[in-house]
Formats: sequence, C-alpha cells, structure tokens
Amino acid sequence: MDNLSNGSESVWMTTALPPQFPVLREKLKTHVCVIGGGIAGLTTAYLLSREGKNVVLLDAGQIGGGETGRTTAHFFPPDNRYFVIEDAFGVNKARLVGESFQRCIALVESIVENEKIDCGFERVNGYLFSLTLEGYADLDKEFDAARRIGIEVHKKERVPDLSFNTGTCLEFPNQAQFHPLKYLYGLAEAFRRNRGVIYARTRALDIGSHDDILTVTTEHGAISAHAVVVATHTPFNDRVVMHTKQASYRTYVLGIRVPKGSVPRILLWDNGDPYYYIRLTTPDEKAEYEILVVGGADHKVGQDEHPQHRYDEIEKWVRQHYPMAGPVVFKWSGQVMEPADGVGYMGRNPMDDKNVYIITGDSGNGMTHCTIGAILITDLIMGRTNSWLDIYDPARKATHGMPEFLKELGNTLAQYGDWVKSGDIDSPRQIPPGEGAILREGEKKIAIYRDDNGKLYPLSAACTHLGCVVSWNAAEKSWDCPCHGSRFSVSGQVLHGPATQPLKAVQLDRVT
Ligand SMILES: Cc1cc2nc3c(=O)[nH]c(=O)nc-3n(C[C@H](O)[C@H](O)[C@H](O)COP(=O)(O)OP(=O)(O)OC[C@H]3O[C@@H](n4cnc5c(N)ncnc54)[C@H](O)[C@@H]3O)c2cc1C
Ligand code: FES
Repeated sequence: MDNLSNGSESVWMTTALPPQFPVLREKLKTHVCVIGGGIAGLTTAYLLSREGKNVVLLDAGQIGGGETGRTTAHFFPPDNRYFVIEDAFGVNKARLVGESFQRCIALVESIVENEKIDCGFERVNGYLFSLTLEGYADLDKEFDAARRIGIEVHKKERVPDLSFNTGTCLEFPNQAQFHPLKYLYGLAEAFRRNRGVIYARTRALDIGSHDDILTVTTEHGAISAHAVVVATHTPFNDRVVMHTKQASYRTYVLGIRVPKGSVPRILLWDNGDPYYYIRLTTPDEKAEYEILVVGGADHKVGQDEHPQHRYDEIEKWVRQHYPMAGPVVFKWSGQVMEPADGVGYMGRNPMDDKNVYIITGDSGNGMTHCTIGAILITDLIMGRTNSWLDIYDPARKATHGMPEFLKELGNTLAQYGDWVKSGDIDSPRQIPPGEGAILREGEKKIAIYRDDNGKLYPLSAACTHLGCVVSWNAAEKSWDCPCHGSRFSVSGQVLHGPATQPLKAVQLDRVT
C-alpha cells in the first residue's frame, strides 16, 4: 500500500537501475559499520575500504533511496555564501571551507576516473546572480570574500548565452555536476570490489557500547564494530542535541524538456527569496531534447499541507525566463537539513563514545558537505589529523549563527502548541479519497489517511521522535513532523529520521 515515491520521482531514479542487496539476518563483526547508503555513507565506506578497513554498510531502504536520489547534484560554492561564513568564523576558517570545497570536487573527479564510473561527471562553470537590488550588494560582498580566501571568481555583466538577462553575476569556473545515482551505484560496486559488504532494507535501531566495542542493533541482526559512522542524513542516534542545531526544509524540483543545445551547460542559482537552482541533464544522448532541472520554493518540513502550488510557482518562473521550455516531465521534492551557522556538521558525535561519527547539516551543498565529511571521518578513523576538523566539528557551539538558531528553536517550540489546537476535521467523513487530516478525539490526535477506495488508515499523530503532532503532506502523501523533520508513510512507516519507530496504528472511536 505504501508507494514510497507517490509519483514524486526524480530524473535520476528513472534513468539508473538500483543494485539489490540482502537484508541483514545475522550477527557480524567488522572494523567499521556505516549506517546510511547515500553519498555520505557510501563515500565514507568506500574511502575506508580503500585504506584496507573491513566495512559493513546498512541502509533502511535501498542504496540511494534517500535524498541522494532526489538531489540536483550541483557541486558549487556554499549556498550560505563565503561572506557569511567569513563574518561568522573569520577569514582563516572561511579559507579552509573554500579549500575543502575545492578538494572535494577533485576527489569525486578522481574517484570517477579511477573507478571508471560512467555518471556524466563534468566540470562546468557556476553562476550566482541576483534579481533584486539588495541581492546585488550581496554579490559584491561574495566577490570580495571569495577573492580574499583565494577562490577563483569573476564578475560578469550577465550570465553568457542565457535566454534572459541576469544582470551582473559572479562566475565560479570549474565547478561540477553528475548523475548522482549512477555515481552512487558505481561507488557501491567499487566498495564491494574492496571487499565491502552492503545490507539493504535493514534499519539500525540503536547503537550500544561495551568495552570499546559498539553494537548496532537492527530488526533481524546486529553488527559489532570498533567505529560506527551514522550517515542517515539526520542522526537517529542523537535524541536532542544535534536536532536543536539544524532545521529541516522541503525543496521542490521540476524536470522540463528543452530542445537540445538551447540552454547552456552551466550551474545557475540566485540569491533571492524564494531562490532557484538550475542545471541541465541529458538522459538520452540520441534524443532531440534535454532536461532542464529547476529547484526551489523551499519551506520548513511539516509546515505546508498542500505544497503543490510550489511546483506551479517554479513552473511559472521557468516559463517567464526560458521561453523554449516544453512539457514538465519530472516533479519531485526532497529534504535538506539547514545548519544554524551555515556550515555542515561532520565528525565525532558530541553525545557519544569517541568512536561514533556523524555527517549531517548538509544544506543545499550535500554533495560537497557529505564528501568532505567522508574525507574527515576517514582521517579520524585512520588516526590522522585534518585541518578542517574544527570548522566542521558537530560539537561546536551555535553562537556564530545565534539569531538564526534562536529563530529556528522558537519555530520548533511553537509546534508543540499543536497539541492544544483542535484537529483539522470534526469527522473522518470530511476526508476526501487520497487525502489525510488530523482528528482530535479527547486528548488524542489521530492522523487519518483515506485511500482511493475509501479505506481509512488511522494512526497516532504523535511523532515517535519527541512527540510533536505530525502534519499532512499532500504532495508526497506522507505525515511530516514540523519539529525535526521526521517523515512517515500513510501506513506509519518511517521515511525520514530522526524517528526510528513507526507511527502507532490506532482504533477510531467515531463513525467513519
Ligand atoms: C531537491 C534537492 C536538491 C538538492 N540539490 C543539491 C545540489 O544541487 N548540490 C548539493 O550539493 N546538494 C544538494 N542537495 C542536498 C543533497 O542531495 C543531500 O545533502 C545529500 O544527498 C544527502 O546525502 P546523505 O548521504 O547525507 O543522505 P541520504 O542520501 O538521505 O542517505 C541517507 C540514507 O540513510 C538511510 N537511513 C536513514 N535512517 C536509517 C537507519 N536508522 N538505519 C539505516 N539506514 C538509515 C536512508 O534510507 C538513506 O538511504 C539537494 C537536496 C535536495 C532534496
Ligand atoms: S522529528 Fe522530532 S518530534 Fe518529530
């Protein structure tokens, strides 16, 4: 009954075949257990296997079934801007961020080459533009900051060869793009050539520790390891601390046909609000068309029940700026974790034993952040030092991004107020087929979905992470938690953490 994509399928999902892996049904011992088979987990697992470590990787679903299958895969400068990072952390740390971003692209390029991964990796120029006066001032600040830290950047009158005039823009040469799932599947193969082991449909439920040995418990098995890397997009093993340092957002993407050669192969993004990010992909070399991939229209998870209008807003913008745009052929949405101070969290988990590591806080730079996280954690596990450790340390205080941090915290706390509000409906009869709504029954709140045949699926609306009331997401047909971004299918199964347990099925007292 749970159609996990619900019609929201990325161009990558339909143009690459996922490799299949078994479920873990035994107890195993290994050097390192990596939890999560997205770009963060697979890159870490691959790098460690290259160093000769025995590594076992688990994924709750299938490899690439998370946000890596929903990304737009631009490798580009920090979307929180170098000048903001410089203001917060100082010029030296901003320089380290710039260096890590460049080294990450070079690493991915070398992996693609050495492992012969056919994923359309290409170096392309990236352009940051603005459509507002305020945004122009920020372009100047970004230009100066990028130069100060040694990043190659050029100011141009407009983005070349585009169908609309962007006005002054910044050109960042030599950025990159690829097909994220082809890369991931190639990485999985390379990892297995290095004797790496992968289990799918195996959700990690807990990490225990005894005498320096960590044990990852799953539904049907367990893995003992010296080190555990939690690469689950948002860490499930940390109940509170990391979830106060980042906020979860949904973001929306359209794939639109354009005649081949009519749009330049570049990365493009602006600094407006809402903002857009744009690239091109060629799923079929022989076809007369390419796919223009345009994302944006973000909002906080669980805080828009009927977000379909966001696809309409993106489409309207595309048609205003790209007159050659043809039919919309792909529509999908995904999730990003925004760190309070604009920089990802990669390294030792602050709450745990020193051998538990996390990669999270990807923001719109997850391709880069996750690869940097994999480099950092590989160094830590191999006992090497790394000059990027401090800047990406998950234990760092959120003082740098304090106003943003307080705003997000206030927003999260406000969500607990949903318990005292009435429900969306007075009776399940009010729910049309294919929709969901919240019903109040005394002290309880019930999340109810009605399928196309009229059958109801009543669940407790209390998120199994920390108890916020979940909210309906009509675009993905899921129950989304507005507090820390957990998501559940209409039958209650976990789609996104930090929750690890499903929403509880309940009985309805009232007539349907
Ligand atoms: C629409 C969109 C556009 C984006 N565009 C860009 C872009 O242009 N450039 C860029 O750099 N970044 C971009 N990002 C961000 C980037 O895609 C993500 O940051 C990145 O893919 C995250 O990778 P990950 O490995 O951390 O997580 P995921 O790919 O989500 O992988 C996590 C895996 O962990 C598994 N898992 C979760 N919990 C458990 C558990 N308890 N046990 C076992 N397994 C578990 C999941 O099944 C999943 O497969 C975008 C994101 C979205 C959604
Ligand atoms: S995700 Fe934390 S309460 Fe729901």
